Amino acid sequence: MKLCMIGTGYVGLVSGVCFSDVGNKVYCVDKDQNKIDYLKKGNVPIYEPGLEELLKKNLKQNRLIFTSNLKKAVLDSNIVFICVGTPTKKNSNSADLKNVFEVARQLKKYITKYKIIITKSTVPVTTGDQIEKILKNQKNKKLFDVVSNPEFLREGEAIRDFIYPDRVIIGTNSKKANKIMKSLYMPIIKKNSRYFNTSRRGAELIKYASNAFLATKISFINEIANLCEKTGVDIKDISLGMGSDQRIGDRFLRAGPAYGGSCFPKDTRALIDTGNKFKIDLSIVKSVVNSNEKRKILLTKKISTLLNNNLNNKIVTFLGVTFKPNTDDMREASSIPMIKYLSKKKCHIRYFDPTGKKDEFKNLKNVEYCKNIKSACLKSDLIILHTEWNDFKLLNFKKLVKKKNFKIYDMRNIYSPLKMKKLKIPYFGIGR
Ligand code: UDX
Repeated sequence: MKLCMIGTGYVGLVSGVCFSDVGNKVYCVDKDQNKIDYLKKGNVPIYEPGLEELLKKNLKQNRLIFTSNLKKAVLDSNIVFICVGTPTKKNSNSADLKNVFEVARQLKKYITKYKIIITKSTVPVTTGDQIEKILKNQKNKKLFDVVSNPEFLREGEAIRDFIYPDRVIIGTNSKKANKIMKSLYMPIIKKNSRYFNTSRRGAELIKYASNAFLATKISFINEIANLCEKTGVDIKDISLGMGSDQRIGDRFLRAGPAYGGSCFPKDTRALIDTGNKFKIDLSIVKSVVNSNEKRKILLTKKISTLLNNNLNNKIVTFLGVTFKPNTDDMREASSIPMIKYLSKKKCHIRYFDPTGKKDEFKNLKNVEYCKNIKSACLKSDLIILHTEWNDFKLLNFKKLVKKKNFKIYDMRNIYSPLKMKKLKIPYFGIGR
């Protein structure tokens, strides 16, 4: 099949590369010519394990075409995916759809034969209806279907998630569009049971409901972790005990700092906004957003307590600053408010992240990027394990820090409290 992905951000690029790998001809379009030139040379602007190899392979085989020529790409494709960003609007909770509608206005000119127009970007329920309105004119009435096909890719595991999805959701009432979408996905999923056809609005809402539910699970376990800390219970036992109930499931029950990333914070807010528009009080989602915001403050206070509320000139080391491992993404990472606060309080902050130095900290005082774990930890007062990169899982802290009386705050519960006790290292985890 011939596909066109509009937008070469995270979603468009990963999906485009993976679709080309199963034999489709895929145009990846972006208005940013520099980005297109960069991609054409086989470079990948984001950190995603396995993506560069796959991209290079398919570029070589001429199945993957990077271009800024939207017209040519759309005219030559039967399926067009809209993959542009839908960030949160300034000073509001709602998703900013201006990029999506702008693309729809441009597409209108190029619908001269039947095409499926798909929203892969996360868009609020009823957005597909609005796109359809924009696209429609007297001539092209029967020449297109607007379908919702949300993505569920996790950063760092996006390729695996694409090739082995738990489910593929296709939102359309058109039999013709559904048949084509099924034949597009079947080589990947191979199982009918993983393919779910629903209404367009249904698919749009499934995406938000899924992300909001996962965010709820995380916030729930994080609040229970707070209770564990007061009652001497280990949250890991709670997650295991709860998670073994198949109705609950053990995934996304790991307690840690506030959740972050490009999706959960944005999508929970947008869902609340949609609820408000339809006069529905999504009180649980509101609480989740609230709880997550409070968590950033709670953990920052805990850092302060661990330093006996005397932050001036203390050396604090962050191991990992991204919102999760295997990504260079800093969006909504909980390390940002923590480091900002500590810098204001005149701490000396050193950080190491396998994905390198971060712009987010470049204007902050006393924040130093270290090229390796060793230089980040030397003579530190407090080591904070913020992101669970594999690089941090087997460290000999005594050798690294070379100082008495340092503490460890393990925000991902990577280490065993018992072992730390034996080593006589003051160790603090989450909910234990
Ligand atoms: C998420 C969804 O999982 C994906 O389906 C969607 O399409 C995009 O948003 P992503 O943002 O890449 O993916 O990250 P994810 O792995 O879901 O983690 C999000 C946040 O939750 C991270 O900050 C992570 O550290 C946190 N998390 C996750 C926990 O604190 N505990 C967990 O058990 C799981």
